[in-house]
Amino acid sequence: MPARTPLIAGNWKMNTLPAEAGALAAAAGEAAAAVFGRAEVCVCPPFTSLAAALAALQGAPAAVGAQDCHAEASGAHTGDTAAEMLAAMGCAYVIVGHSERRTDHGETDAAVRAKAAAARRAGLTAIICVGETLAEREAGATEAVVERQIRGSVPEGARAADTVIAYEPVWAIGTGKTASPADAQAVHAHIRAVLTETMSAAGEAAAVRILYGGSMKPDNAAGLLAEADIDGGLIGGASLDAGAFAAVIKAAGA
Ligand code: PGA
Repeated sequence: MPARTPLIAGNWKMNTLPAEAGALAAAAGEAAAAVFGRAEVCVCPPFTSLAAALAALQGAPAAVGAQDCHAEASGAHTGDTAAEMLAAMGCAYVIVGHSERRTDHGETDAAVRAKAAAARRAGLTAIICVGETLAEREAGATEAVVERQIRGSVPEGARAADTVIAYEPVWAIGTGKTASPADAQAVHAHIRAVLTETMSAAGEAAAVRILYGGSMKPDNAAGLLAEADIDGGLIGGASLDAGAFAAVIKAAGA
């Protein structure tokens, strides 16, 4: 099993004005410095706070990501943002296919795949989100749903260097309910098995980081991160609390 450096990514969603974003980013940068070489850190503010986060993290060992991008590099798409624009600012990551975008904006697997391909074209790493709803889990369809999303959302030719997967059970997002480490590990292992089929280059699927997301916080992070195929976390609510986010980062670097 190749060593995969854990990645802790903060998804701030539609929160933070620039001043607060700068302060939160600076705190994340300090926490990242304390685990340098053992864990990586990324914060994903809303578009309007990207510049503040980037400025606060100048010289710090933490990256900045956006929460969405358009598939095209430019054009008549009012209100959208191209991956190239994010890369030019200094972003390193972009989240694509978060369940809130799949639900709020009707994003399909094909749309998510096009966005992930755009991220790679621009030199960004895409954090591609998948996850089942409660009804799907209760119907025993978790693995089938996640497999369909992985097959449909990960672009052809994806490599570990430009792709991170986030498994986020929809019923666990923002609810305080977390998948048990064993349940999450089972889905992560299935995702990696599917990637082993779909990522053609040898060794890529084994090197891809698969993050868990959904009410991950200081008191459950260590247990989740101890699982063999859980390579970090995509943290929503707890990433808006500097102390809680630092504690999750510390757990990843332990
Ligand atoms: P949560 O959000 O940690 O608040 O559950 C995770 C996410 O939606 O990325």
